[in-house]
Amino acid sequence: MANSKHDTILVLDFGAQYSQLIARRVRECDVYSEIVPFTISAEEIRNSGARGIIFSGGPSSVNTPGSPRPDEKIFSLGLPILGICYGLQVMSLMLGGKVECPEKKEYGIANISVDKPSILFDGVNRHSQVWMSHGDSVVSLAPGFECIASTDNCPYTGVEDVRRKFFGIQFHPEVVHSVEGTKMIENFVLKVCGARNDWNMGSFINDSVESIREKVGNKNVLLGLSGGVDSSVAALLIHKAVGDQLVCVFVNNGLLRKNEAESVVNLFGKHFNMKLQYADAEEVFLSALKGVSDPESKRKIIGKLFVETFYKEARKCNDISFLAQGTLYPDVIESRSPSGGPSSTIKSHHNVGGLPSDLKWELLEPLKDLFKDEVRALGKELGLPDELTYRHPFPGPGLGVRCIGEVTKERLDTLRDIDAIFIEEIRKAGLYGKIWQALADLLPVKSVGVQGDERTYREVCTLRAVTSEDAMTADWYRMPYDVLQRAASRICNEVPGVNRVLYDITSKPPGTIEWE
Ligand code: XMP
Repeated sequence: MANSKHDTILVLDFGAQYSQLIARRVRECDVYSEIVPFTISAEEIRNSGARGIIFSGGPSSVNTPGSPRPDEKIFSLGLPILGICYGLQVMSLMLGGKVECPEKKEYGIANISVDKPSILFDGVNRHSQVWMSHGDSVVSLAPGFECIASTDNCPYTGVEDVRRKFFGIQFHPEVVHSVEGTKMIENFVLKVCGARNDWNMGSFINDSVESIREKVGNKNVLLGLSGGVDSSVAALLIHKAVGDQLVCVFVNNGLLRKNEAESVVNLFGKHFNMKLQYADAEEVFLSALKGVSDPESKRKIIGKLFVETFYKEARKCNDISFLAQGTLYPDVIESRSPSGGPSSTIKSHHNVGGLPSDLKWELLEPLKDLFKDEVRALGKELGLPDELTYRHPFPGPGLGVRCIGEVTKERLDTLRDIDAIFIEEIRKAGLYGKIWQALADLLPVKSVGVQGDERTYREVCTLRAVTSEDAMTADWYRMPYDVLQRAASRICNEVPGVNRVLYDITSKPPGTIEWE
């Protein structure tokens, strides 16, 4: 824990939905930040060398028996603390203040009034818009604390104990609706904690290269390259550290987008000069999928075959000691065991499943401290082309779950052409970056059409584009009619097997992003 080379701010997680955002905001100040369970001991914090602590918000009420409490010795470490929402309340209560649930609760946008000059509000307007979401409020300050900000409904919206460098705010500075929230976090991190702001992608690369070299020594690393952002960036970083000791395996399952396999081989094999093992498994996959239309059966077949193919290729490589994965920080946090320790189990959706018992590899996860947008910034710094860095997500089972009904080479080729046209038109209209994911599905339905002077009876396709933060929920994208029109007309003119195009306007829920 904690980055020994860089000043670190620890975010103690009391169960807030925004803990990751707090860490993100700190990192935007070029200071390293890590989320730790609230159960961390004061001793562990001292040993970590952290420069400051932020208590996150949380869903509990401090007055509920059994609600989360940090180690009380944390208050004697001599480290600055910023309590946010529940964090403020728990700190106030433990240090001798009082918290109650008032009749008037506050949710949503509020305006604070800065009542007393405080280092926390340096450069912040006297009246500032913030985001509130709380039931409880501090009603009596702990000894040593003074009020620095208030709202009409909440007299102790901001508090400080200057001597001990303890601060508390009832609102959420980390969300965008708190207009000057980032400034407040920056004040805490840089001015109160005095943290050095030297954590950036350049320094991350140098540190990682050094630690990968140290860990790997003269041994060899295997990585499953999918062509997605995470595995591509992990490959570039490890390649920079250990060069030809890295072997990338790329499995062409025949379910990839148009020209995908060629461009991965060209970029990584030729341009970046990496050792790339290309497994052409198209026929194996397509023959296993012959006659199968049930979505779950398709997914199972594709997943199982992928694992088999990947390990078959892996066994061809000599002396592998490490398996590299592009695991990201949110994955690490989400997979933490209930007892609090981060676990490093192999994620099932990484498509490599559990390791077979005859392969005893150690995991190498060089991106496990980074958020997605940081991985993109890293990719840019390592020379990954923008087209790949900012690419929409693509599911592991690929076009297999977009080719509704039976998956055949012919239908896949049709779908590849449709997808390529749709994406090209979106890019030409400058909309690609505004969309979380754009996809096309080929339906096992035929309709009558008239093309030229001829009556046709061909398949129907759907186009779908959604906006989303995290793929958990999604809204259909209000695609301009002229873009839809160009895509539809090109698809009917250029793709032989199709004569009708639909646009999917289902949000998630109730629909999922993928059709299968
Ligand atoms: P759904 O369809 O569940 O998809 O709304 C949510 C997000 O996950 C992607 N997805 C997958 N990604 N392996 C993956 O790596 C899979 O099996 C898989 N299934 C869905 C989907 O594209 C969307 O971004």
